[in-house]
Amino acid sequence: MPVYQCRGEVPAKRHTQLRRAGLLLAEEVMGLEGFSGDESILYHLRQPLGYEPSEEWRAIERDEWVPGRHVHHHLRTQGLPPMGDPVLGRRTLVWNDDVEVALCHSSQPMPWFYRNGEGDEVVFVHQGQGVVATLFGDLPYRTGDYIVIPRGTTLRFEPEGPQRHLVISSPGPITIPRRYRNASGQLLEHAPYYHRDCHPPGALRTHDEAGDFTLRVRIRGGLQSYRLRHHPFDVVGWDGFLYPWTLNIADFEPLAGRIHVPPPAHQTFEGRGFVVCSFCPRKLDWDPLAIPIPYYHANLNSEELIYYVSGSFGSRRGVEAGSITLHPSGLAHGPQPGLVEAALGRTETDELAVMCDTFQPLRFSGLAQELDDPGYAGSWGLAGA
Ligand SMILES: [Fe+2]
Repeated sequence: MPVYQCRGEVPAKRHTQLRRAGLLLAEEVMGLEGFSGDESILYHLRQPLGYEPSEEWRAIERDEWVPGRHVHHHLRTQGLPPMGDPVLGRRTLVWNDDVEVALCHSSQPMPWFYRNGEGDEVVFVHQGQGVVATLFGDLPYRTGDYIVIPRGTTLRFEPEGPQRHLVISSPGPITIPRRYRNASGQLLEHAPYYHRDCHPPGALRTHDEAGDFTLRVRIRGGLQSYRLRHHPFDVVGWDGFLYPWTLNIADFEPLAGRIHVPPPAHQTFEGRGFVVCSFCPRKLDWDPLAIPIPYYHANLNSEELIYYVSGSFGSRRGVEAGSITLHPSGLAHGPQPGLVEAALGRTETDELAVMCDTFQPLRFSGLAQELDDPGYAGSWGLAGA
C-alpha cells in the first residue's frame, strides 16, 4: 500500500529508544525484499519472539483431482456448507506455484491468531462483516470488501454472522497495478480507484495482557502452532507502508467504451503470475454496431477463473451467485449459442464478479471435483463434451 501511515506512539527518529513507564520497547522492522522493499516499523512492549512451538508442524494437505478431459469447468459453490472459522475453514479449490484460490464458508469464531508467513492474501468478502483484528489495529470489513493482507501480519478474524469468502493467496506480492501509480506511488487519474477508497487499520489497540494464546503460522506449505505467554497485539506504535487494508468492490470505477472494453481495464490487483479483476455494474458499449458482450477469445497461456457475485452475466448461461467458471489455457471460450444475438442493443449490465487470471496452468482439488458441473462443457453444444 503506497501511502505512509502512522499509528500510536513512535520516536522522532527510527532506531532510537522509545520507553513506556521506563521500559525500553522492542523495535521490529517488518519489511520486504531484504531491506529495500516496503516496510513498517513497530514498537512492542516485549520482544516479538516469545514463541514456544506447541505441536509438530503439519503440511496443508491437498487432494488433487486430475480431470480426465481438458474442458471448461463450472463449479457450483452455493450449497457448500459452512465449516470452521475464517482461516481453518478455508478449502483450496485450485492452485499453481504462483497462486492458490480457496473458498471459506464459515460460521465459527476464531479464538486464536494467524499469520501467513509465506505469502500475501486477498480475501474477497462475498457475504459477511466483522473486524480483522491485527497488530496494526482493527480493520473493519463488510460485504464486497477485498481485504488485502501482506505476509507477516498477525491477525484474528472477528466475524459477525456467517461468512462467505473467496481467498486468493500467493507467495509473490499482491499489489496495486504498477501502471495505476506514478513514481511516488500515488494513484493516477486513470486508475479505477483512489486512495480514499483504500481503508487502512483504524485506531491501534495495545494489549498488555499475559495469558495463554495460540498463534498458527502458515509456513513452507504447512501450519506451525505456537503458544504465546502474552497477547501478540502489544504494539504501542508503528509507521510505514506495509499494513493490511480494504477496498470495496463497489468503489471500483468500471470503464465503459463505444465498443467492447477488454478485461485489463477491470484489473484491480497484480500478483506474480496472475491478475485479479473486478467486473462491476456499468453502461455497455454504445456504438450502434457494437456487440456488448465478450468475443470468443483464447488467452493461450492464461487460465481464467471467474467468481460470480451477483447480477446476471450476459455471456454465460446457467451460472448463479457463487458459481465459478474456469476456462483453461489452450482453448477458446466465449458466449454460449444465442447469447450474442440476445445481447445486441443491451445498454447496461448489473453483473458483479471477481476474476483471477493466471499465467500458468491451475491444478484442481478434490473439492473442485465435488463442485464440478459436468454439463457445463457441453453448454456450447460441443460434440462429446
Ligand atoms: Fe474470458
